[in-house]
Amino acid sequence: MPASPPIALPPADPRAPADAPLLVVFGAGGHGRVAADAALASRAWRGVVACDRREQLWGSELLDGVPVLSPRALGDLPVPWQLHVAIGDNASRRREAQTLLAGQAGGTVLATIVHPQAALSPSAVIGPGCLLTAHCVVAALAVLGEGVIVNHTAVVDHDCAIGAWAHIAPGARLGGAVRVGDGALVGSGSTVMRGLRVGSGSVLGAGAVALQDIPDEGRWAGVPARQTHDGVAA
Ligand SMILES: CC(C)(COP(=O)(O)OP(=O)(O)OC[C@H]1O[C@@H](n2cnc3c(N)ncnc32)[C@H](O)[C@@H]1OP(=O)(O)O)[C@@H](O)C(=O)NCCC(=O)NCCS
Repeated sequence: MPASPPIALPPADPRAPADAPLLVVFGAGGHGRVAADAALASRAWRGVVACDRREQLWGSELLDGVPVLSPRALGDLPVPWQLHVAIGDNASRRREAQTLLAGQAGGTVLATIVHPQAALSPSAVIGPGCLLTAHCVVAALAVLGEGVIVNHTAVVDHDCAIGAWAHIAPGARLGGAVRVGDGALVGSGSTVMRGLRVGSGSVLGAGAVALQDIPDEGRWAGVPARQTHDGVAA
């Protein structure tokens, strides 16, 4: 692997707490941009840098003032830092988080980012490494596992339980007490009726309306949602 370019950190954000660490957003794609944007808006970190395995991105900017570093640079950062893995694909996000945490010899914190315009109940329980973007709702007593994405305008209603590394896509609506299994994708604009379960590793298609439980590893779409055959709602 070629040597990484010198590390030029952004100036410390004077609006962040004086002892705030740096945030490393791992994944310099579109989802990384959303995560970095939310992190900057939250003012919870002294600054934000991005990191990516793709060499052609090193030295570029993810957003204004957010440089993209090589993974090698993580070992040389001159200030305390936290990690947020920003990859939209659930399995890749989980795999990268595990790889990066194992490689950092302990001490690295998986950071949760909450956009200041996310509506988050104080009674909700949010795991490490989650991303709550602008205008999402996470209501009373909802529980989010590690690495969950609740994307723009998605609603996770009261008493929902979302498994680790799941993604509630933009505009999705979960009724009360819905359970979503680990690594599931609840597609953009879809609706899951109150009390149902969306199985681990399953995909509920964009715009679908689930009126019954979705089994583990299922691929369901349409209104009402049905199991798909080669992507076509039956
Ligand atoms: C349902 C889904 C899983 C199917 O994916 P796929 O197996 O790759 O399917 P394809 O894109 O090859 O489409 C196959 C067929 O299903 C139809 N189809 C695709 N998505 C559909 C959906 N959400 N609802 C109903 N029909 C759908 C296509 O029109 C196509 O029909 P055709 O064969 O008659 O032309 C996928 O389209 C989807 O909705 N994923 C969720 C995406 C999302 O919300 N991501 C979040 C991004 S932040």
